[in-house]
Amino acid sequence: MNIDLTGRDIIVVGGAGYIGSHVCKSLNQRGARPIVFDNLSSGHAHAVKWGPLEEVDVRNADALDQAFAKYPQTKTVVHLASSIEVGIGETHPAEFYDNNVTGALVLLRAMDRAKIKRLIFSSTCATYGETQNMPLVESEIQNPVSTYGKTKLAIEHMIQSFHKAYGLSYVTLRYFNACGADAEGDIGEEHDPETHLIPIAMQSALGLRGKMKIFGLDYDTPDGTCIRDYIHVTDIARAHIGAINAFDDGLTSAEVNIGTGQGVSNLEILKTIERVTGLPLPFEKAPRRPGDLSRLYADPTNARSVLGFEPQHSDLDNIIKTAWRFHSQNR
Ligand code: UFG
Repeated sequence: MNIDLTGRDIIVVGGAGYIGSHVCKSLNQRGARPIVFDNLSSGHAHAVKWGPLEEVDVRNADALDQAFAKYPQTKTVVHLASSIEVGIGETHPAEFYDNNVTGALVLLRAMDRAKIKRLIFSSTCATYGETQNMPLVESEIQNPVSTYGKTKLAIEHMIQSFHKAYGLSYVTLRYFNACGADAEGDIGEEHDPETHLIPIAMQSALGLRGKMKIFGLDYDTPDGTCIRDYIHVTDIARAHIGAINAFDDGLTSAEVNIGTGQGVSNLEILKTIERVTGLPLPFEKAPRRPGDLSRLYADPTNARSVLGFEPQHSDLDNIIKTAWRFHSQNR
């Protein structure tokens, strides 16, 4: 993707987080200035390396107005700030609806006041729900199981309404499982608490936590564990560049899956980590985690045709190698 964004200001809401920081690096590599809006509740100031940081909460309209006023050249906002842990959403739905749905509404209204008409929104495959129709196409019925997925779907609908009524242009990216780390080791995945399979497995291999648990070995899948589509975070970042380019070419609305099209089971992930790191990775069986779906993998056709997007970094060994370098160096 040889796209030149020289001289552009792009606001990245949630840019201090795992995916957001990789988006900022990608923007910077193409000449743009990423301006991070983040309340640092889960993101890290040390991950903001390629442009200014404005410490604002998406639910604070006044703070957003003041921050937008500082960057009047901005035409595009990338919105990634949200609560993401599927399990925590089941026990704390009020916080999830407040941070995700209220936050998106306050942000969209502030964008409207600032006359910013382009939005790239980070949504999720968790908006689809349990279905046998794999790979998932974007027109699949969305019937999310988890609170997390429900909040993201509510925001998708909000954005579609703003598009119709107020002329907001948008690209909603439905990410599959983000993983891996920046090839130069600048940034990586550092959630607190950590709930994701690959970082937990790596912390376990490094002796930083006890034996890891696999949530459910009784799913209707070949080895009994859940199947996911693991897409390297650098590829996810590149998809945002494709979305900006598509806006420039006249795109005004799209929902696009961002995945590889390959389903990988939890046990296959553990085996790959053992092979790549050379360390044993014992696990114990645990009950199914509420909100988990048995299998999720993308049909990536639309990403190719709408965004010109092809994964380049998402080979499983590369995912595990880059994640391992980050985790073993930052232990
Ligand atoms: N898992 C374990 N043990 C762990 C952690 C995870 O067995 O200690 C399992 C989960 O139960 C699941 C799989 O590993 O079967 C993947 O779980 P993750 O938490 O790594 O990822 P999720 O698939 O739950 O979540 C990801 C993103 C979400 C997105 C979701 C869609 O983090 O943002 O995919 O399902 F919405």
